[in-house]
Amino acid sequence: MYLHELKVANLKLLRDMTIPFLHEGKPRPWTVFVGENGLCKTSLLRAIALAASGPERGNQLGTAYIPTMPDKRQPEDAVVSIEATFGFSELFHEERKYPGLEGMRPPRPPRLVSKLTTSARVGVLRGSSQYLDDSGTQLPGTESLPDPLQDARATGLNLWFVAGYGVNRNLPQPMSTSGRTYVAELDRLQSLFDGPPLIATDFVSRFDAETARTFSAELRRAFVEHGLLPDVEDVLLMGRGGVSDPRTLVAANRFSMRLPSGEELRIPALWMSHGYQSTIAWVADLVGQVWSEGGRIPLDQIEGLVIIDEIDLHLHPTWQRGLIRSLRRALPRVQFVATTHSPMVLPGLEPHEIFILQQEQDGSVRWDQSAQQPRLLTGGELYERFFDIRSVYPDEHAQKLHRYLRLASDAYRSDEEDVEMEALRSWLQREGVPVAYEPVPRRQP
Ligand SMILES: Nc1ncnc2c1ncn2[C@@H]1O[C@H](COP(=O)(O)OP(=O)(O)OP(=O)(O)O)[C@@H](O)[C@H]1O
Ligand SMILES: [Mg+2]
Repeated sequence: MYLHELKVANLKLLRDMTIPFLHEGKPRPWTVFVGENGLCKTSLLRAIALAASGPERGNQLGTAYIPTMPDKRQPEDAVVSIEATFGFSELFHEERKYPGLEGMRPPRPPRLVSKLTTSARVGVLRGSSQYLDDSGTQLPGTESLPDPLQDARATGLNLWFVAGYGVNRNLPQPMSTSGRTYVAELDRLQSLFDGPPLIATDFVSRFDAETARTFSAELRRAFVEHGLLPDVEDVLLMGRGGVSDPRTLVAANRFSMRLPSGEELRIPALWMSHGYQSTIAWVADLVGQVWSEGGRIPLDQIEGLVIIDEIDLHLHPTWQRGLIRSLRRALPRVQFVATTHSPMVLPGLEPHEIFILQQEQDGSVRWDQSAQQPRLLTGGELYERFFDIRSVYPDEHAQKLHRYLRLASDAYRSDEEDVEMEALRSWLQREGVPVAYEPVPRRQP
């Protein structure tokens, strides 16, 4: 499923916010939130995950989190509300089941609104969902149906796919997750709520030998052919059948890296750096989750909503620069909702795909969209337009040195400017910043 709109109220610092996820009538493929620490980016991602799960699965996912949601600035009985509208693709409409609509199948996919509430008094999520028609009113004839989202999540319905990845996304030890009870609806979103490790590459130990082999080949396509992992030349993940000796287990997931010398370095996935591991982990998990649900679906057919907190996590700026473009190529039918603290992620995005969060005087958060095309901006301009770092010189020392040099090279500086220049020179010398440039003599204007 795809997200069309999110409304939240009284959730932490989100007093009353509506965010559109449609662009020109279609689900926007990428939405990235940027904003200072503590501006509720993760809270927004979690709100989407809860709304997509419905109350029953949502309460399981967010047991510890839900009591933290009610805005502390509001009275105890203030109602936290999350309302999300979702849609479905036309492509798989014929195959997709819509609980309750079996006898009255609509010619086009319906929309679905999921509403959740909680409060400091209640402490758990309550809510329901219903189908909507194109005009946004309840689909005629569905008034007495049981809750469709609840039903879809309880029965693990295919083609209602949503997954979410939080900031803890390390690779698991091979075969470490095979004994774990797996409930797809929870497993796909738990990482956003600091849950257990992802299954990720360990899906090979859950799949049969042939599926494991194809899974490995499909990940190779994502990582090597679509360039998601720089300098990786080959990927080989072995399932249960491929490893006989427990001592060689770690080597069962092997990546080949190209060294600057041109030589090849073959190492187990678990020996790779954090940047590689965190990207491998969520991409492998996503493909594994989709395949456990619907079989061996090629990357470019994978559909659904994928939520990623801090998409730039552990990645060097040169890698960040190409990340979104590689993901667009590799997974063109996925709708991504992500957050980032990095300007280098932005050139892969259109202006309408970036939501800048800012804070009001009372602490409430609001969003803005930039009219600027990020791919035409310099690094400095990206910092200024999207991260509010207005100076070319972010550090005070550089700012003061820059001001000193401007004044010292101006023969027509005023008396006040001359005093300011001397004060700057003394400050810089005290701070140990070398000031080699002597002021030019002053002249009369
Ligand atoms: N019950 C509450 N009522 C009001 N505000 C809250 C409540 N609980 C937490 N907060 C504030 O809400 C914000 C929630 O932060 P959240 O983790 O969503 O931010 P973030 O934008 O993801 O930050 P970061 O970039 O550091 O990850 C924090 O500023 C926190 O101080
Ligand atoms: Mg966060």
